[in-house]
Amino acid sequence: MIDEVVTGIGTPNIALVKYWGRRNSSLNLPTNSSLSITLDETLNTKTSVLFSDKLKSDALYINGELQNLNDHKNEKSVFAAMTLDRMRGLAGIKYKALIVSKNSFPTSGGLASSASGAATLVYTVSMALDLNMTQKEMSINARQISGSACRSLFGGFVAWRKGEEDTGLDSYAECVADQNHWPEVIDVIALVSGAKKKISSSDGHRVTVETSKLYNARPNEANARVVEISKAVRDRDFETLARITMADSNSMHALMLDSYPPIIYLNDVSKQIIYAVHELNEREGSSIAAYTFDAGPNAQIITLKKHKDKVVECIKDIVGTGNIIVAGQGTGPRSLSKADSLIDEQNAKPG
Ligand code: PMV
Repeated sequence: MIDEVVTGIGTPNIALVKYWGRRNSSLNLPTNSSLSITLDETLNTKTSVLFSDKLKSDALYINGELQNLNDHKNEKSVFAAMTLDRMRGLAGIKYKALIVSKNSFPTSGGLASSASGAATLVYTVSMALDLNMTQKEMSINARQISGSACRSLFGGFVAWRKGEEDTGLDSYAECVADQNHWPEVIDVIALVSGAKKKISSSDGHRVTVETSKLYNARPNEANARVVEISKAVRDRDFETLARITMADSNSMHALMLDSYPPIIYLNDVSKQIIYAVHELNEREGSSIAAYTFDAGPNAQIITLKKHKDKVVECIKDIVGTGNIIVAGQGTGPRSLSKADSLIDEQNAKPG
């Protein structure tokens, strides 16, 4: 669909077993498999794409800011440009692209904005170029922009199989159970800070693998957790899911602290939330909630719909906790109508 704007919407995912550490940094190949929940559109990225002969060069705007596609300090923008080129090559065209993307939530604050952004970009570019890509093909392309993005192409509970091959062609995500299997599972997000993280996840992956003495134990442990938590999802066994989720978040943040220089994403508010969730579970006599933290201090508390009020109650008065957002499970990206376009098609400019 050349000279026509195409718009899509996609969402972040929250990993219950984390991806941390790469065996290949150019292709974003992980050292371990991981498993996440794709969130609904409570938090979302909208992306419009236009390929046109009116355009002299590629341009990518994120939240109104033009990105430098050659700035190697901003690895994800460079990877996005490479992915765009690869997909354009598959379509056999040479037209330049204008891509305008907006997140409904803080960018680079540890709320998986890059996962949501990269998955939506690949989905929308694939539509704009009429590539008819399978979800697996889109997952491989999104992975090359931001590793965790490969999971946001699918709905519900999603596993990223780490793969073995150097090409990365066997490193992609697949659905373990879709959003209709266990819809009671929700994510209560406590915003602790919307600030941009000090250490990018790209640097973090590298520093941990290069310097953490504890790192060697991680890949096998995480792979085993993916197997165990997948069974817990299939059996709708929340107790096991909660235990693995909290243990794995703690394990990733321990490796970060063991890196040199240390990588510290949690702050005092995050730590109080950790204690509050353990106290809640003790009072209840079983694990009804599980915290997990990505590359930032914001808490994501996985629970069941029926326990939502108890979870909100236990964290809302912790000083430093800001907005609390509740998200269910989503479907993965979908297309939007012309009315949602972020591009002024006539003038080939952001709208
Ligand atoms: O996808 P990246 O390179 O931004 O790495 C982020 C990894 C974590 O969010 C911290 C964990 C995960 O599996 O999503």
